[in-house]
Amino acid sequence: MAPDRLNVALVGATGKVAAPAHLSSLAAAPNANLYAVCDIDSDRVGELAEKTGTKDFTSLEAVLDDPNVDAIDLVTPPFVHAEQAIAAARAGKHVYCEKPMAHSLGETDAMVAAHRQAGTLLMIGESYVFHHPVVAARAVIDSGDLGDVLHIRETKGPWIMLSEEAERLSGMSHEANAPWRVDPKLSGGGRFPWIMDHAPHFFATARYFASGAEVVSVTAHSQAGQTVSERVSGTGAPTGQAITSVAWSFDNGIDSTWNQIESNGEAAREVGFVTTVHGTKGTLVVYGEGGGAAPGLSQPPAVVLYRDGKSRVVDAGNTGDRVWLSNNSYYDAAHQAALQHWVDSVLAGTPVRYSGEDGRSELAATLATIKSAEERRSVSSSDVPADWTAY
Ligand SMILES: NC(=O)c1ccc[n+]([C@@H]2O[C@H](COP(=O)([O-])OP(=O)(O)OC[C@H]3O[C@@H](n4cnc5c(N)ncnc54)[C@H](O)[C@@H]3O)[C@@H](O)[C@H]2O)c1
Repeated sequence: MAPDRLNVALVGATGKVAAPAHLSSLAAAPNANLYAVCDIDSDRVGELAEKTGTKDFTSLEAVLDDPNVDAIDLVTPPFVHAEQAIAAARAGKHVYCEKPMAHSLGETDAMVAAHRQAGTLLMIGESYVFHHPVVAARAVIDSGDLGDVLHIRETKGPWIMLSEEAERLSGMSHEANAPWRVDPKLSGGGRFPWIMDHAPHFFATARYFASGAEVVSVTAHSQAGQTVSERVSGTGAPTGQAITSVAWSFDNGIDSTWNQIESNGEAAREVGFVTTVHGTKGTLVVYGEGGGAAPGLSQPPAVVLYRDGKSRVVDAGNTGDRVWLSNNSYYDAAHQAALQHWVDSVLAGTPVRYSGEDGRSELAATLATIKSAEERRSVSSSDVPADWTAY
């Protein structure tokens, strides 16, 4: 490995959602070199290699055999994350692995152990905790201006994209272009596939604001008898049941909730992820992914602190997003910050801010959420057996 430049292979490189953000982020990192692209789709990966001037591969094994590859960036679906991250460690390659980390806690433990044994760095791609409004809000908490955090309340619009968004992206939408997301087994979420994709984000954000405390006592509510299927235009396939409310505590006493407006995508215009952090001295309102500029809404600043009868804009957040109709740059800005941190950490040999152990915490809370919805009782992260999967 050159001391000042990391040769990266992007695996799952022709994917529709995460891959474009990773391609632009790696291109923007001055100390990263996109050396190779890999995907099981040989036509698409050949075209991408030509466009980016990189080597192309159709199997991870071949990538791992190439001694010029220093590090692997996994933007593959979660059902291959564990085997791919472990194989990369055994070949001595550093890994950035998109969330959700895996399907079971046993898999996450094996991933962490493989990298520890190999002396390679494993970072999980939890971009929410690198998103500028979330980082800016955390700085307010660190400054003491909010006082002690008491309660964290998160809300999210529906999964289904507004038709304007899908049209802008030439028909691309999470559900139509990545069928694994709505498959009980491939998503890892069983009857509740959608929550598997999103819960790691909201637990990570809350845990970041709760100073890394662990999640205990999760209570999840699912929509009675309804499936999302009728609302996924064009596919007609059953897409599982939605979990629309989750309440939990952290082991340091902070309480937290997440609520999703799961209704017809066209009816719900508010699409973003918004977090309200209540402290002993004030309240922070933080607009996250997709937040801020749904059609017909005003464009609020990304972070505002309310305190002593006044409001202070902490982060104006005034650039657009590639995927959402939003004035809050998530897809490019948050992924770029996270990937830059990974490249810098690998080259410097320093720990990452979001590790395999962090990814495990979020998966444990996510599986506890699914267990809670299934069994209609409160479940703690520590109650989830290592070999338990939701399907
Ligand atoms: N951090 C975020 O905000 C964010 C956003 C979107 C997606 N993601 C995550 O990124 C990952 C990918 O999601 P997506 O929506 O881009 O998926 P996608 O289905 O659009 O892309 C996945 C790509 O991986 C390829 N692939 C599948 N199996 C492979 C294998 N064995 N070897 C090589 N390539 C393989 C597919 O051909 C496809 O091109 C998921 O884990 C998802 O949760 C994260």
